[in-house]
Amino acid sequence: MPASAALSPTIRIAPETPGDAVAVEALVLDAFGPGRFAKTAERLRERATKIAGFSAWLDGQLVGSVRLWAVTVGGVEAVFLGPIAVARDIRGGGIGADLVAACIDEARRLNVGGVLLVGDAPYFARFGFEAAPDAVLPGPADPRRVLWLRVGEAMASGPVRPA
Ligand SMILES: CC(C)(COP(=O)(O)OP(=O)(O)OC[C@H]1O[C@@H](n2cnc3c(N)ncnc32)[C@H](O)[C@@H]1OP(=O)(O)O)[C@@H](O)C(=O)NCCC(=O)NCCS
Repeated sequence: MPASAALSPTIRIAPETPGDAVAVEALVLDAFGPGRFAKTAERLRERATKIAGFSAWLDGQLVGSVRLWAVTVGGVEAVFLGPIAVARDIRGGGIGADLVAACIDEARRLNVGGVLLVGDAPYFARFGFEAAPDAVLPGPADPRRVLWLRVGEAMASGPVRPA
């Protein structure tokens, strides 16, 4: 079995288009439930500009999604990653990794300081994300789950604001 879904000819990662929105919402709702809307990350996304999104497709079905939002962290331009979700019946095949890789490529292309997210360190550490306890989100967040991937030279320190 291939280590990455990118090696499979049937999985396609593509920039999100406006026509994907309904399927993305359904996928994210299934992955996180309605409780997601209570989260600090969602408060930030409500006020930030969506700067990019990527969709994973299998046989014409949307099976994965991730979005990037424009933020500043301590005044440094950055992107905020999330939500990321993969359809339940196809998890573990590398689609999540491919979506994160697309985000990291995009962050490099945008030449921002780094990628910030609120998520599970055991999953995101494999991509190089590290705890960023000095990044101050606009609401409660477990500091162990606030993670940063350095793209430029900047550290993640200071208030996180929508941009
Ligand atoms: C997290 C998610 C996007 C990963 O997608 P995926 O396509 O299954 O990811 P990959 O195939 O690249 O990676 C699978 C590996 O990550 C591990 N993994 C998945 N979610 C994890 C988590 N929350 N914490 C730690 N490890 C996790 C799997 O056990 C698997 O491990 P293995 O490689 O040792 O077998 C997917 O599981 C999902 O949609 N989860 C529900 C939504 C969610 O929780 N998103 C945010 C996570 S903070």
